[in-house]
Amino acid sequence: HRHLLGMAGLSYPDIQTLLDRADADVNVSRRQEKKKSILRGRTQINLFFEASTRTQASFELAGKRLGADVMNMSVASSSVKKGETLIDTAMTLNAMRPDILIIRHSAAGAAALLARKVGCSVINAGDGAHEHPTQALLDALTIRRAKGRLDGLTVAICGDILHSRVARSNIILLNTMGARVRVVGPSTLMPPAIEQMGTEVHTSMKDGLKDVDVVMMLRLQRERMTQALVPSVREYFRHYGLDAEKLKMAKPDALVMHPGPMNRGVEIASDIADGPQSVIEQQVEMGVAVRMAVIEALLDERKIEAGA
Ligand code: CP
Repeated sequence: HRHLLGMAGLSYPDIQTLLDRADADVNVSRRQEKKKSILRGRTQINLFFEASTRTQASFELAGKRLGADVMNMSVASSSVKKGETLIDTAMTLNAMRPDILIIRHSAAGAAALLARKVGCSVINAGDGAHEHPTQALLDALTIRRAKGRLDGLTVAICGDILHSRVARSNIILLNTMGARVRVVGPSTLMPPAIEQMGTEVHTSMKDGLKDVDVVMMLRLQRERMTQALVPSVREYFRHYGLDAEKLKMAKPDALVMHPGPMNRGVEIASDIADGPQSVIEQQVEMGVAVRMAVIEALLDERKIEAGA
């Protein structure tokens, strides 16, 4: 693979290899081992058209830990504000001959479009409601390190499934790796035919969380809603917010996850987010190692293509 545009199309061995590589990168990402220099002289450009804290920061650190020159394009102060299109912006950056371009954009398919136009590797850092593949990989690594495996586990993904690229990428990855996936939320926040992606659909948290190994909460993406899809935040929290009472339905050692950014008191109670079952901080930490592994894997592939 030359690009990472989504989890769709990745096989069990592809994912296993990336997770193994990321696991081996954890100590470098923690600076307990020497920084690698395999990307010395290589250029990585981060092009974020949508807000990000975790993804942008961890891609920047990942590139730097590998020795690359990393450039963050600040879209807010770029010529995008003067009306330059996505493709023209990308072609301008492409002329500077980067080795890797990382893009986040509000339109589904933006990363794939870019990959067809530029000469370097492209990583999708989130495209609309479509995919966020490195998030699914860091979630999988977090689960695998805590539970020792992915196959045979039951994972409940809860909340705003409709707008969630994180949910889509996780559903694909978890199915490929042999986990069972439930989606839990109000019917107004369920994409049509979601069961055809390999999920069991629940509209009640009580049923959906019963005996699960992992509870993955999602942010209510009100900025993407053109009409009111939930009655009120208070009602939403009462029915779908993860609190101690609802969490009791899951296995006693179930992991609590959230990709962030969290809205405390909307989809998750503060004490649960900070509680003993929460691995939310570990998810963020695994982000650097996973992004190192993906960048290394893509650049290795390019070396193979070039016959090096
Ligand atoms: N999880 C995630 O993508 O977070 P950011 O939007 O902060 O990058």
